[in-house]
Amino acid sequence: MPQAAASDNLEAMKREAARRALDFVRPGMRLGLGTGSTAAHFVDLLAERVKQGLDVVGVPTSEATRAQAERLGVPLTTLDDEPELDLTIDGADEIDRELNLIKGGGGALLREKIVAAASRDMVVIADEGKQVSRLGRFPLPIEVVDFGLGATKKAIAAVVLESGCPGPIRLRHKPDGHVFVTDQGHLILDAGLGSIPDARKLAQGLSRIPGVVEHGLFIGLARRAVLAGSKGVRVIERS
Ligand code: A5P
Repeated sequence: MPQAAASDNLEAMKREAARRALDFVRPGMRLGLGTGSTAAHFVDLLAERVKQGLDVVGVPTSEATRAQAERLGVPLTTLDDEPELDLTIDGADEIDRELNLIKGGGGALLREKIVAAASRDMVVIADEGKQVSRLGRFPLPIEVVDFGLGATKKAIAAVVLESGCPGPIRLRHKPDGHVFVTDQGHLILDAGLGSIPDARKLAQGLSRIPGVVEHGLFIGLARRAVLAGSKGVRVIERS
């Protein structure tokens, strides 16, 4: 398939997943609004429903999502005013069979995890290419503070080695060459691990490093995944 057609096809699949996720939204719900291209389709479609009278309120997981939701007229709130949400809908970079995720390709993993953890339910939306038998092919984003970066990187290298998945750890840069800075003012280290034998163990090890603010392993947070492929949309539930 020519590249342009393949990319149109991928966007169409993401939109179909986003459209199906609307079925889980009920009037009056407090929603976590994810970040990334798939989540952007969801916000777009949600805004159409809001225009038709659907009464919901959202907490955005990034400044980009906030700007989109505001532009499209989706009512917003904060976790200070609504500390418990009904449902978060968000994309992912990888999804395994137990619906554990790698997130943070867009750099919003910290707010995404705070919002997902504050939600009673989380639905992941993605094209089926994101489904993997084992997490790790997508470089794991790790949000860190700039102070002590060298020491934090060394500690991360030791943890990934101990977890059986050593690999290069790189500071994320933007396409223009500047260092990528998150909405919370932190940096991102991307760990190219290849294959993570025990995601839970790795998550625990990373969380123990003082300079690590959060990592992109979302363990046990998603309850359903809506996956769109060339043959249609599938909904998978965590057992
Ligand atoms: C943002 O930080 C990420 O967690 C995104 O949810 C993830 O990268 C998926 O993005 P796409 O829907 O653009 O692939």
